Amino acid sequence: MGKGFFISKVVAVVCVVVAISAVATIIALSVVYAQEKSKNQETPATATTGTTAGPGTQTTTPSTPKEPWQHYRLPDSLSPISYNVTLWPRLTPNPDGLYIFSGYSTVLFTCVNETDLILIHSNKLNFTMFDGYHAQLKAVDGASAPQLKKSWLEVPTQYLVIQLSSPMQAGSTYELFTEFVGELADDLGGFYRSEYYEDGVRKILATTQMQPTDARKAFPCFDEPAMKAVFHMTLIHPHGTVALSNSMNYEPINITTPDGLNLIQTSFGPTEIMSTYLLAFVVCDFGFIQSDLGAEVLIRIWARRKAIDEGQGAYALEKTGPILSFFEKYYKIPYPLKKSDQIALPDFSAGAMENWGLITYRETALLYNPAVSSNGDKEWVATVISHELAHMWFGNLVTTRWWNDLWLNEGFATYVSYLGANYTEPDWNMSDLIVLNEIIGVMAVDALASSHPLSSKEADVMRPEDINALFDSITYSKGAAVLRMLSSFITEEVFSNGLSMYLEEFKYKNTVYQDLWKNLQTAVDNAGIQLPHSVEVIMNRWILQMGFPVVTIDTSTGKISQKHFLLNPDSVVDVPSEFNYEWFVPITWIKTGAAKDQYWLLTKEATNPDMTIGASEWLIANIDMKGFYRVNYDSENWDRILTKLSTQHQAIPVINRAQIIDDAFNLARAKIVSTTLALSTTRFLNAELEYMPWQTATRNLDYFVLMFDRSEVYGPMQGYINKKVTPLFKHFKDLTANWTKIPEKHTDQYNQVNALSWGCSTGVEGCKELTTAWFKEWMDNPDNNKISPNLRTTVYCSAIAEGGVVEWDFAWGMYRNATIASEAEKLLYALSCTKQPWLLNRYLEYCLVPEMIRKQDATFTINYIAGNPIGQPLAWDFIRANWDHIFNNYGGGSMSFGRLINGVTKRFSSEFEYKQLLQFKEDNINQLGSAASSLEQALERTKANMDWLALNKKLVFDWFTNEISGTV
Ligand SMILES: *[C@@H]1O[C@H](CO)[C@@H](O)[C@H](O)[C@H]1NC(C)=O
Ligand SMILES: *[C@@H]1O[C@H](CO)[C@@H](O)[C@H](O)[C@H]1NC(C)=O
Ligand SMILES: *[C@@H]1O[C@H](CO)[C@@H](O)[C@H](O)[C@H]1NC(C)=O
Ligand SMILES: [Zn+2]
Repeated sequence: MGKGFFISKVVAVVCVVVAISAVATIIALSVVYAQEKSKNQETPATATTGTTAGPGTQTTTPSTPKEPWQHYRLPDSLSPISYNVTLWPRLTPNPDGLYIFSGYSTVLFTCVNETDLILIHSNKLNFTMFDGYHAQLKAVDGASAPQLKKSWLEVPTQYLVIQLSSPMQAGSTYELFTEFVGELADDLGGFYRSEYYEDGVRKILATTQMQPTDARKAFPCFDEPAMKAVFHMTLIHPHGTVALSNSMNYEPINITTPDGLNLIQTSFGPTEIMSTYLLAFVVCDFGFIQSDLGAEVLIRIWARRKAIDEGQGAYALEKTGPILSFFEKYYKIPYPLKKSDQIALPDFSAGAMENWGLITYRETALLYNPAVSSNGDKEWVATVISHELAHMWFGNLVTTRWWNDLWLNEGFATYVSYLGANYTEPDWNMSDLIVLNEIIGVMAVDALASSHPLSSKEADVMRPEDINALFDSITYSKGAAVLRMLSSFITEEVFSNGLSMYLEEFKYKNTVYQDLWKNLQTAVDNAGIQLPHSVEVIMNRWILQMGFPVVTIDTSTGKISQKHFLLNPDSVVDVPSEFNYEWFVPITWIKTGAAKDQYWLLTKEATNPDMTIGASEWLIANIDMKGFYRVNYDSENWDRILTKLSTQHQAIPVINRAQIIDDAFNLARAKIVSTTLALSTTRFLNAELEYMPWQTATRNLDYFVLMFDRSEVYGPMQGYINKKVTPLFKHFKDLTANWTKIPEKHTDQYNQVNALSWGCSTGVEGCKELTTAWFKEWMDNPDNNKISPNLRTTVYCSAIAEGGVVEWDFAWGMYRNATIASEAEKLLYALSCTKQPWLLNRYLEYCLVPEMIRKQDATFTINYIAGNPIGQPLAWDFIRANWDHIFNNYGGGSMSFGRLINGVTKRFSSEFEYKQLLQFKEDNINQLGSAASSLEQALERTKANMDWLALNKKLVFDWFTNEISGTV
């Protein structure tokens, strides 16, 4: 599945923005790849949250099943060959007001081992009964089929169970026929319904999301990834609509139902041999654009007619062809299908889904509108398309056998999506940005004692909820990070050679992750590359145990050691590791500017004389953060690094400038280095123009803002940041010809946002005047918003913070009229930036009126308000006063109490607040639902914040005060 945002897109953008208050914690966890279903599971938000159960820590295994149908896994007695499925979704409600679909299906299967039992997945389907049974069985090739004895639906394991009066014969093939009706609900799973308005007309479409276990909600099927088969699909749909599926359609024909309805019947060519979770079918009245018909692969982009007419699919169409040819070269295998459809859906749970030949997307992940979309929106489109296209081979052509290997599938697609995006947008530095977007973020999660290993045991991943829990940031981002590390120590070329052999060997089949290691090993051997151990033995350390090491280098002796890095040094790791939390660490380094060979740290401690330095030298390890570890040095080397940063920072590669900041702040949180050392790594920023170091500093300083923006430390801290950002602000003023041009470089466009948001929030001269004037110009001319889309979030927020009710009401009106989701999200956030308590209170009231703010946005909005230091106590009072109402009316689906508790309490850091939390827990003990564990985390985090403040407040105050008074 594609990347989905754990929280809404705008928050990811807002992370970049420290407008009037910090929105992110030190650990920028805002972006976690997850799907809707896992939205309700809170990801730990600070060092100290220690109770979130991840996959692999499964403890509630069901009691030992007695009967075959009580097992969550299919027996291996039957094996599907092909399906013939006809489905008819009704796009108008039936007399009971329900939307339904009906269908019938024949599955042809081989009996592999003699059995008198048929288990086939089926969920929430109602069957037509034939002589009292749910299905009809026929033998193929003249043999006679056993009689049915008993059939029923086994709900917990989602089976249709059929007992036969005599066994089926091994080696024979049979056909099972079923006829059924299901609900076309708006539940975003299986065959579901999506709605939107076009020109005031309400439109309904039918679409699918099968991964991981919802194909069984559309028709009975052997719904496991290894049960590959050929699918012959037919869809029945109204005139005026089009039907799409994985393969190309035949000429549609007109049919008349027995009740006299005139409809269209569209059949599709047989699919390749494939897994059920990759099926897709859509009935809609969308428009499309397509590539040149002469091309070998037909590429089409589908979306709402309006979006297509406005050209919003053009960017996706332009990029799909090049990315496909990049992957053809990279994998050394042609694109396996004849066509590639990509469709943008108004309602979609994840970011996108790699259905083979018919990729489905959230609108924001496929459509791009240069007039209103930011460069971040554009990057998102390019990387998500690249991610999904990468799956067409890796995942779809070759599929892992079971969900426990999901990390390989998703980690791989995430890693190579940056290569594909780098190929098609070579100026964007995408291969560097993976460090910011994936690696640094997931290190924060993986440094918690509650993290979990990448690889799970097959037996620990049985039930649909276990499978769903695997779609987390460890799977996507750490998966990507360790594959990037592997690719760097065996070289990209050897990696791609091994990959190509793997795909060739297993095409149309299933694998376990060791199959990839084996092929990479062959490629390594062929290339004559020397490794200290086999690929498998090295990688086991990284995938079978959670976490990663901090490597400490003493540059006076060359002594190197490693230790499991835990953000909270007091946390207890109660999961034993067969490797004792030691890793085989590939160490690269530069010594005074010159790159050195790789060194393998294979034990807890070692000495490498090459890593000692002379009196005037410095050393930095983990070049470009290719390795998944943090680095600490002896204090002399730290000092020399700081000096080098202050005098000639360009001598250090840009990714490492970001790494030094991120490592230092995290080591300080773990009490391995001092907080003043961490702060000192930001001193050089007044000379820094690059995005990555600024962005890393922003994420880390956000925690300081959060902790201190209500205290006397705030003034000196603002003064310090003002001093650092002023030159950056001036730089962008010049670069953009007095703010009239958009910077050319992608990363400059991002860093311009940092310059403006820090500039305005710390009072850099001319900043607020600028944003206020732009906003005023828009207010004078509401139909002509000239504010650059890249800067809108910041400009809106800053202007609303400076303004009063007039500005607020204007922005609210614009939010109500917004027809583009990304624009509405930007405004929804910016409205929380006002400093007027009564406006914030009124805004909070709006949150509980669904006609004002959609239910799906309510928690985000309350959290935005809580992110504002003035809004924070108001939001806390508000949710306490309205808890009953919130609990009873916002309990469903997308609303997460956990997220709400986390958001509203994240800056809690006093005894008083701690007591309030305890009181809240006591008052609401019986109605906390999914918020219960978040409340525990909030208590724990508040304690940790109190400790941190006690240790650091004075020291941080003195440091900032000293810095602004000019003494260094
Ligand atoms: C199918 O029906 C539509 C609408 O009733 C009509 O326009 C079209 O010509 C018909 N096509 C065929 C092949 O009969
Ligand atoms: C990124 O693209 C550029 C330009 O095509 C290329 O030179 C570079 O090698 C690519 N980087 C990676 C990591 O593939
Ligand atoms: C830059 O823009 C501001 C306002 O937009 C204007 O007042 C100022 O004169 C401009 N400066 C230059 C050098 O063009
Ligand atoms: Zn994916």
